[in-house]
Amino acid sequence: MAILRCVLLVCLAFNPHIFAQSLTPLALCALTDIWPQGPGSALEPQLPDAELTQILAQIDPERIKATITKLVSFGTRHTLSNQTDPTRGIGAARDWLASELRGYAAQSHGRMTVSVPSYVQPPASRIPSDTVISNVVATLRGSAEPDRAYVISGHYDSRVSDSLNFVDDAPGANDDASGVAVTLELARVFAGHSPKATIIFAAVAGEEQGLYGSNFLATSLKKAGVDVQGMLNNDIVGSSTGDDGARAPFDIRMFAQGIPTTETAAQIATRVSIGGENDSPTRQLGRFVTEVAQNPSTNMSVHIVYRPDRYLRGGDHTSFLQQGFPAVRFTEPNENFAHQHQDIRVVDGVQFGDLIDFVDFEYVTRVARVNGAALWSLAQAPGTPKGVLIDTTGLTNNSTIKWTADAGADGGYEIVWRATEEAFWSHVIPVGQVDRATVQLSKDNVHFGVRAVGRNGFRSPATFPFPG
Ligand SMILES: *[C@@H]1O[C@H](CO)[C@@H](O)[C@H](O)[C@H]1NC(C)=O
Ligand SMILES: *[C@@H]1O[C@H](CO)[C@@H](O)[C@H](O)[C@H]1NC(C)=O
Ligand SMILES: *[C@@H]1O[C@H](CO)[C@@H](O)[C@H](O)[C@H]1NC(C)=O
Ligand SMILES: *[C@@H]1O[C@H](CO)[C@@H](O)[C@H](O)[C@H]1NC(C)=O
Ligand SMILES: [Zn+2]
Repeated sequence: MAILRCVLLVCLAFNPHIFAQSLTPLALCALTDIWPQGPGSALEPQLPDAELTQILAQIDPERIKATITKLVSFGTRHTLSNQTDPTRGIGAARDWLASELRGYAAQSHGRMTVSVPSYVQPPASRIPSDTVISNVVATLRGSAEPDRAYVISGHYDSRVSDSLNFVDDAPGANDDASGVAVTLELARVFAGHSPKATIIFAAVAGEEQGLYGSNFLATSLKKAGVDVQGMLNNDIVGSSTGDDGARAPFDIRMFAQGIPTTETAAQIATRVSIGGENDSPTRQLGRFVTEVAQNPSTNMSVHIVYRPDRYLRGGDHTSFLQQGFPAVRFTEPNENFAHQHQDIRVVDGVQFGDLIDFVDFEYVTRVARVNGAALWSLAQAPGTPKGVLIDTTGLTNNSTIKWTADAGADGGYEIVWRATEEAFWSHVIPVGQVDRATVQLSKDNVHFGVRAVGRNGFRSPATFPFPG
């Protein structure tokens, strides 16, 4: 009954349209009734602790505005534009980003370091001749588990209608100075704090030419053996208003892939045979973000979308998915296509172009808080459990799950579960400092996950068990 009442309240608060269509409250609740019943208690979202609340309050719309204004001032940041001119082109933007991040790092008591990793991209799609691709990267080293890392990024290159036009003004205020501003502002605020795991703040280049910078970053991290347990791509997070004037100032979309790019045919066959299509590591990251990032400190609703990206579009998270790292993309809900990848011009009284006039700095600030809540909660929690297997050796109504114990899980483990048609984990069963547990609930009827608990109260994303 408690669950039914809760569902009713949520509907009343957030979805008045459904009631307008004359569905009775009773019918709604019947649609969302939960089966089966089982052990554990209702899973409560993780709310920000005192330090995270303080971090989120420090995120400053004036700083975000200053960053976007500065990036727009370079005229164009096209990947093929001038790399040595001190005031115009991608080189000037690169040097300013590096110097800004070095300023933040100076306040970090040595925890944050800044680098500009580069490589020469030979001629390829949208790259007519040898081109230096440079990322600007600030790394905040984890105090307890420096080899476990989380990445946040935006792309600092920009474009107009012709993808090879590196001459004309390409302000890229929303696409993607907004995502770079989110990344920079979190780097600034986080530099004053000491997370347990490492956080990598990246402004990448070459996105508009074909994800060159993010591919370089993701493959470098893979080669270096860094355990990247989550990546947050912010691309087009600058405006709450669509071309029809529709506003969604307290909503953000989060695109999350289903079956991982890197799974083999055999792995996919197993995943499909157990109904695990909705339980990839990226979906677990998405569930985690919705759990930690929707609260009074962010005042945002995070809308998970079950696909890697919008139709016909891609982004820098794709490069991380290709290396097997869980990765999601944040994008505003109401895109205005007249403001993306367009020559600056007026047609029939309609202004085209990615101008700063269309950016809502308060909105970008709230998106930064969503990212900040997610990143801090990830980096303070123990790592996502590994080696998670479910016993399938015999027919039983019980479910036995085991995993690899991790010293970082100093508060033990929890089994989470949900009905198979539920979107989010709904129940939690604390099982203590163990590496296996048997739950009196049939694995035939629900999805299980295992999450690690820190003594500090932070919970990791869950891992979905495979048969073993
Ligand atoms: C880039 O700008 C510098 C300084 O203005 C100029 O000397 C140089 O010729 C430019 N390079 C190209 C390839 O246009
Ligand atoms: C928080 O969000 C709600 C909409 O969900 C909005 O009505 C309210 O004004 C917001 N509060 C602040 C302080 O922005
Ligand atoms: C399994 O559960 C079903 C349904 O509750 C019950 O009928 C059956 O007896 C149980 N089997 C065992 C072995 O406990
Ligand atoms: C199921 O688990 C309970 C408690 O762990 C145990 O008492 C019971 O014997 C188990 N039943 C089966 C069929 O494994
Ligand atoms: Zn973009």
